[in-house]
Amino acid sequence: MELVIEKIKKLKGNISVPGDKSISHRSLILGSIAQGETRIYNFLNSLDCLKTLECMQALGAEIELGKDNSVKIKGKGLYGLQEPKDILDVGNSGTTIRLLAGLLSGQDFYSVLNGDASIRKRPMKRVIEPLRLMGADMWGRKDGQFAPLSVKGNKLNSLQYTLPVASAQVKTALLLAGLYTAGETVIKEPLPTRDHTERMLEIMQADLKISPTEIKVIGGKELKGADIFIPGDISSAAYFITAASILRDSQIIIKHVGVNPTRTGIIKILKKMGARINILNYQIKSNEPQADLKIEYSDLKSIEIRKEEVPLLIDELPLVAVVATQAQGKTVVSGAKELRIKETDRIKAIVNELKKMGADIEEKEDGFIVTGPSRLKGAVCESYNDHRIAMSLVVAALLAEGKTMIRNSECIDISFPCFEKTLQKLIYF
Ligand code: S3P
Repeated sequence: MELVIEKIKKLKGNISVPGDKSISHRSLILGSIAQGETRIYNFLNSLDCLKTLECMQALGAEIELGKDNSVKIKGKGLYGLQEPKDILDVGNSGTTIRLLAGLLSGQDFYSVLNGDASIRKRPMKRVIEPLRLMGADMWGRKDGQFAPLSVKGNKLNSLQYTLPVASAQVKTALLLAGLYTAGETVIKEPLPTRDHTERMLEIMQADLKISPTEIKVIGGKELKGADIFIPGDISSAAYFITAASILRDSQIIIKHVGVNPTRTGIIKILKKMGARINILNYQIKSNEPQADLKIEYSDLKSIEIRKEEVPLLIDELPLVAVVATQAQGKTVVSGAKELRIKETDRIKAIVNELKKMGADIEEKEDGFIVTGPSRLKGAVCESYNDHRIAMSLVVAALLAEGKTMIRNSECIDISFPCFEKTLQKLIYF
């Protein structure tokens, strides 16, 4: 499928965006291993999250997805999952494979995890290595570097571990495995990453201690099912936040967006660049902060983004490249080599495609340099089957002269099935 986008005048109006992807994955996994019922509201019904849902069902979880994106789970308790009869297929979802690697390492059965061509290229050693230290019997191609992964569940030992890379997926895998040990698992992060797992474990009454430097989980205690209200995904809202910030005369409101401080890096950076973003109606629901965001166009200046800030806006960095094409001066992003091992090499992808559109952008090993402002022009672009690249290019296309074609745009359904419809609501020609 291809998406053709024309230059528009501005964005105006009110929207909401679908539920947070990270929280949706976690709610299915934790709800399945909790005791009692878990009800999830505003679940993200997208390809990635449906993969987690199918995997959990294959493991024996009783999950019902309603038409209104609510989900009902009859929890099985920590020890109630069953050996799957077939390979667990995670599709394109890195979160599913890494989180399930952690969960499955502590079960008393055998399972195999596999995914699409992109998944089979992504690094798994980062999760297998610490899980093996806990006693997991796990294998993958090239000594555990790549999927398919096979897991022969084991009795696990607790672990004290400092993550070599800042990764919420690895942290979560270890916390899930930690639930199945007799002792105290302690995880230290090199830099703070999204903390949705910790917040959800808290409302499910896990034995958890969180300090600014480490997270401790004591295994063996059953979790309690809970009601989970999922806020709108800030990573999905980010396409509209950035588009409204760079399209003259735009003014939009996005309702009920998750504003967890481990995810709001994009707002912080845009504000530093001069963006006009107001946070309204702040409230906490299910241990997660949410708010309405009001965004108005404003002139932007360039910025430097360093390693420390990267985990807080990792999925929004391709969008930062787009915004930087419209900002005065040189924007430098460094310390972001993790971008090269996402669904695709996101540094290469965004640099190649924005160059086609006339941007002044230079690839660096661990980031990119953009000099702005520049006039973008329509082009034929590739999505690299990466949802975030496809939607970032849509934002660029809204202000590029003429028409832009984005090829293989169906990947957008991985995280944001109603993206086009939501965009249509705001567009003025
Ligand atoms: C995620 C963590 C991040 C992020 C991904 C979702 C999660 O990945 O890029 O989209 O839900 O834990 P890493 O853990 O690889 O940084």
